[in-house]
Amino acid sequence: MKSIYECQECGARAPKPQGRCFQCGMFDSIVEVKNSPSENVPSGRRDGLSSLSKTVQLYDDVDGLDSERLNTGSKEFDRVLGGGIVRGSLVLIGGEPGIGKSTLLLQVAASMAESLGPVLYVSGEESDYQIKMRGKRLGLFGMPLHLLSETCIERILEQVQQVKPVLLVVDSVQTMYSSALESPPGSIGQVRETTNQLLVQAKNEDLPILLVGHVTKEGGLAGPKALEHVVDTVLYFEGDRFQTYRIIRAAKNRFGAVSELGVFEMTGSGLMGVSNPSKLFLSDRETSVPGSVVICALEGSRPLLIELQALVNTGAYGNARRTSSGLDRNRLSLLLAVLDTKASINLASEDVYLNVAGGLTVDEPAADLGVVAAITSSLRKKAIGPETFVFGEISLAGEIRGAAQAGLRLKEADQLGFKRCVMPKSNVVDSTFDGDIEQIGVTTIEEALEVLFT
Ligand code: TYD
Ligand code: MG
Repeated sequence: MKSIYECQECGARAPKPQGRCFQCGMFDSIVEVKNSPSENVPSGRRDGLSSLSKTVQLYDDVDGLDSERLNTGSKEFDRVLGGGIVRGSLVLIGGEPGIGKSTLLLQVAASMAESLGPVLYVSGEESDYQIKMRGKRLGLFGMPLHLLSETCIERILEQVQQVKPVLLVVDSVQTMYSSALESPPGSIGQVRETTNQLLVQAKNEDLPILLVGHVTKEGGLAGPKALEHVVDTVLYFEGDRFQTYRIIRAAKNRFGAVSELGVFEMTGSGLMGVSNPSKLFLSDRETSVPGSVVICALEGSRPLLIELQALVNTGAYGNARRTSSGLDRNRLSLLLAVLDTKASINLASEDVYLNVAGGLTVDEPAADLGVVAAITSSLRKKAIGPETFVFGEISLAGEIRGAAQAGLRLKEADQLGFKRCVMPKSNVVDSTFDGDIEQIGVTTIEEALEVLFT
């Protein structure tokens, strides 16, 4: 039997052992695979999807458009999924250990069992007894929820045929194995093979499947990157487990918008959806402190008010530090350069620390103006009033560019009692907003800082 060598990170294959993967550059990730997985998979399943559609069909004749979405019982979870879980979809849920994946899925499983019928919850990590204990803490009882502690995918699929569930939960893909392969659970071949088998099951039986995936230290899903291409939807838990709230964000969704997010709070009795997250994110805000600025970022279809904090401090001579959590560091460097050239604020010898309060991650360019305002506020030790918020993208030329959905952002801030907004001038004209917020339109970074600090 011929040996091949496979990278456990990216799935690249090599004919010879190597210390470093030629494709993804990881060290020590290449292991020997006794028999190549694809040669061992029963024929007909070799590429997993070959059995999905049997014949050619006319577009107009394809039915199933009314295959409606199922309610998961959690409004926030439904929202990230794009309005409920689609029948026959395979959803991968990634997140750090202890962040609440199993908790959320048990709650969803119980709720769907209660309203729709039998649900099969398979765990390769916990025993039935442990799951029951958790369920008891969550106050779950009296629904047709079937538990199975099993790691062999073939036996799981057998049980699926018996139970005929309306939803299948598999916790986690890294613990599952297929008896067709010899490699250990968690290896790339096994992860790929079990996911493919689940995918075929989902599509053929119109069965929605929620699959848990562990993430690596770098934050990516452990196992093959290819997994993300196979499944229909990829959701990530964000935020950290030391805080009470958790954010679930869609990284890929064949049935809805990406970057849609759901906000949850970890309580003594499980994860609870938060219907007004802006309020939560601003709840511990110290008003009138220099360096703190509220921005309104659009996450998916939802406007969120978020506090940015900056600290500018004269550092050790000659090597200024730039640290940023929750915001791209390259973006920070870029904005510092724009501040220097366009507003003559030179921070070459200052340490700059930037933080998005609450462990949130913001990647919307409309946060730019907030970053610049927070840094300047800290540098000049001048607070921005508690009733002011900002948004707007900054171009390399120092112009303030318009942002999408200005009206939505203003409305959200209005509801939370904000009175003044420094924003792109082009958005003031277009605004569909009719609340009572004073809209101050600016076109350049200099103008914005003048309005904010004089
Ligand atoms: P868990 O769902 O086991 O995480 P994962 O499956 O992602 O590894 O989450 C466990 C954490 O959640 C643990 O730190 C305890 C906390 N927790 C609560 O705060 N309240 C609860 O009701 C439950 C069940 C867990
Ligand atoms: Mg778990």
